[in-house]
Amino acid sequence: MKKRLLSGIQPSGDIHIGNYFGAIKQFVDLQNEYDSMIFIADLHAITTIQNKEELSKNILNVALDYLACGLDPQKVYLFKQSDINEVTELAWYFNCITPMPFLERATSYKDAHMKAKEVNVGLFDYPILMAADILIQDADIVPVGADQKQHIEYARDIALKFNKIYGETFKLPEPLILKNVAIVPGVDGRKMSKSYKNTIPLFGTNEEIKKAVMKIVTDSKSPEESKNPDTCNIFSLHKLFLKDTELGVLRNKYEKGGLSYKESKDMLYEEIVDFITPMREKREMYKKDLDKVYEILNEGARRAKILVEKKMKIIRSNIGVNF
Ligand code: TYM
Repeated sequence: MKKRLLSGIQPSGDIHIGNYFGAIKQFVDLQNEYDSMIFIADLHAITTIQNKEELSKNILNVALDYLACGLDPQKVYLFKQSDINEVTELAWYFNCITPMPFLERATSYKDAHMKAKEVNVGLFDYPILMAADILIQDADIVPVGADQKQHIEYARDIALKFNKIYGETFKLPEPLILKNVAIVPGVDGRKMSKSYKNTIPLFGTNEEIKKAVMKIVTDSKSPEESKNPDTCNIFSLHKLFLKDTELGVLRNKYEKGGLSYKESKDMLYEEIVDFITPMREKREMYKKDLDKVYEILNEGARRAKILVEKKMKIIRSNIGVNF
C-alpha cells in the first residue's frame, strides 16, 4: 500500500515562486509515489481574508494553479478544506486537550501578535486546525517549506497527547522539507512571502514578472567589477531555474566581472517566462472550462470524505461521544 502524502496552500493571494518550489513542485513530483491529498486551505485563509468575492476568487485561482502546475486529479485527491467539515469538529476535540501557553509559543501567532492590533481566535488556533487537516487523513508525510515545520511539530505533539489520553488513534506525520528550496528568497533577500510584499508571482503577466525581477535588491557594483554569486539575490533565484552546468557558467561570469546585475536580471526574467509558459497555457485551458474545475473539486471532496467519515467514527468512539 502506498504511503499517504498531504498538504495544502492558503488561498490568501496570488501564489508565488516560493510556494511553487517550496511545496507544489513536490506535490507534483510525488503524486505517483504517494496516495496524495492536496487541498485548498480556505478555512485557514478566513483568518485574514474576510471578503466574499476575494476569497472565492482566490480559491478558484489556487485550484487552477494546482492543475496548471501538473497535479493530476485522477491520481490525487484535490479538494477544498471547507468541504471536509469534520476537520473543524476534530479541531474542537484538539482544542480541548491543548493548553493555551502551548499555542502562544507558535511563531505564526507571535508574528501576527507583533504586527496586528488584534489577533482573532481563528489565527491563534491556526496550528490546531492544521493538525486536524493532517491527522484526520492519517498522513505519513507533509511536504512544505521550512516556515511550516513548527506546525507539523505541533501536529505530532497533539497526536501524541491525544493518543495518550484516548488510546492509539493517530499516526505521527513527518515533514518533507527539501533543503535547497526550504526558504526561497524574495526580491529583497528575505523569505519570499505575500506578507513581505517581496514575491515574484508564479502566474503573473510578463510585465508583473519583469517588474518584480527588476526590484531584486543588489549591491552597487559596476558591470566590470567581480561579483560574489553566493551573496547575490538574483543568483539565488537563478539556482531554481538553471541546470548545474549553466549555473557554473554563470558563476564564472559573476566572478570574472563584466556581467551587470541588469543583465543577470534580464536572464532571470527569460528563465522564469520560459519555465512558466507551458503551465500558463494549461491554466488558460482550465480557465475556459470552470465547470470541469468545480467538478474536480467536488469529486475530490466526495472521495476524501469517505475516508474521513470512517476515521471520525473511530475518533468519536475513542472520545466517548459515540456509542
Ligand atoms: P502557505 O499558504 O503560507 O504556503 C503554502 C506552501 O508554500 C510554502 N512556502 C515556501 N516555501 C519555500 N520558500 C518560501 N519562500 C515559501 N513561502 C511559502 C509553505 O511552506 C507551504 O508549504 N498553513 C499552511 C497551509 C496548510 C497546510 C495544512 C499545509 C493548512 N493546513 C496542512 C500542510 C498541511 C500555509 O499557510 O501555507
